[in-house]
Amino acid sequence: MSHCARIIGTGGYMPETIRTNEEISQLVDTSDSWIVERTGIKTRRIAGPEETAASMAEIAATQAIDMAGIDANEIDLIIVATGSPDRVYPSTGCLLQKRLDIKNCVAFDVQAACSGSIFAMSIADQYIKSGAANKVLVVGSEICSRLVDWTDRSTCILFGDGAGAVLLESSGEAGILSTHIHSDASYEDMLYCPNPQVATDSKKDEQGFISMKGSEVFKVAVNTLGRIVDETLEANGLDKSRIDWLVPHQANIRIIAATAKKLKMSMDRVVLTLENQGNTSSASVLLAFNEAVRDGRIQRGQIVLLEAFGAGFTWGSALIKY
Ligand code: UT7
Repeated sequence: MSHCARIIGTGGYMPETIRTNEEISQLVDTSDSWIVERTGIKTRRIAGPEETAASMAEIAATQAIDMAGIDANEIDLIIVATGSPDRVYPSTGCLLQKRLDIKNCVAFDVQAACSGSIFAMSIADQYIKSGAANKVLVVGSEICSRLVDWTDRSTCILFGDGAGAVLLESSGEAGILSTHIHSDASYEDMLYCPNPQVATDSKKDEQGFISMKGSEVFKVAVNTLGRIVDETLEANGLDKSRIDWLVPHQANIRIIAATAKKLKMSMDRVVLTLENQGNTSSASVLLAFNEAVRDGRIQRGQIVLLEAFGAGFTWGSALIKY
């Protein structure tokens, strides 16, 4: 096998400040028991006033680079997935390139909402498979807390901040086995975040906050993630019993449990971080992956299924032989 994208480093960063369900119930009409029962979330992290997607990405990326034991200047492509970039431009990828002091590489952002890291890994995989890149840094970094309306109980209970990273290297050994990504914008109104500065007159009253029809999104997410699991297994001629770990997007414990049930996997084979992180959008899958690699759950040679679903709608999966 030549030109396979092998994971040689992982990293993750969560801001220091913890926001509990109790604290949120002082802001909106909700309760710890409602949030835990309906979502599985107990606490989430909130970025400090001077933190940004790029500053958090730098910390996660540096951990991944250190684990890989490479010089940052060996990286030839940086892809940052974010829906909360520091600036409209330059891209957060470019800002990260500067922070990592990489003189000569390509850097750009991918915007696929909560599926962003899977989309970014898919792009990285294509670059490596084709021989166009040798070492690719993929980061998901999000400051969701600044896109959330803290008076809207249907969204503010869900989201958190953080960054996750993986470093991929062209290798003869197995790595990413396949990626599968999809979009369907017929659902654009179910989950969106306006950009008021470029709004048309008819939309100029919209504020720049996340808006979500939660229960509709929930239903589509469960069905769609079930389909992507089938698609991924079929493309690899793999039985579901071969999957060692499921690393799902951390949106809601009930969505994750439905996917695990479809795979006939017990929940102790599922990497869960949402209890103390909430939904960190594009960072979530990489944060979870990093956690399970670093605590020794995910071992070299094991088969890992990553999947995510988000605004667009977008959805995708990556099957990895770690
Ligand atoms: O990451 C991107 C993709 N996003 C997702 O996958 C999120 C998908 N959606 C969800 O996770 C769930 O739909 C939510 C957690 C957002 C909501 O849970 P639900 O079980 O779907 O609740 P619901 O929206 O159907 O609302 C049920 C009830 C409603 O009251 P009534 O109409 O039954 O009286 C809501 O007004 O719960 C009420 N409610 C709340 N009550 C207390 C909604 N939010 C809250 C709240 N606290 N925070």
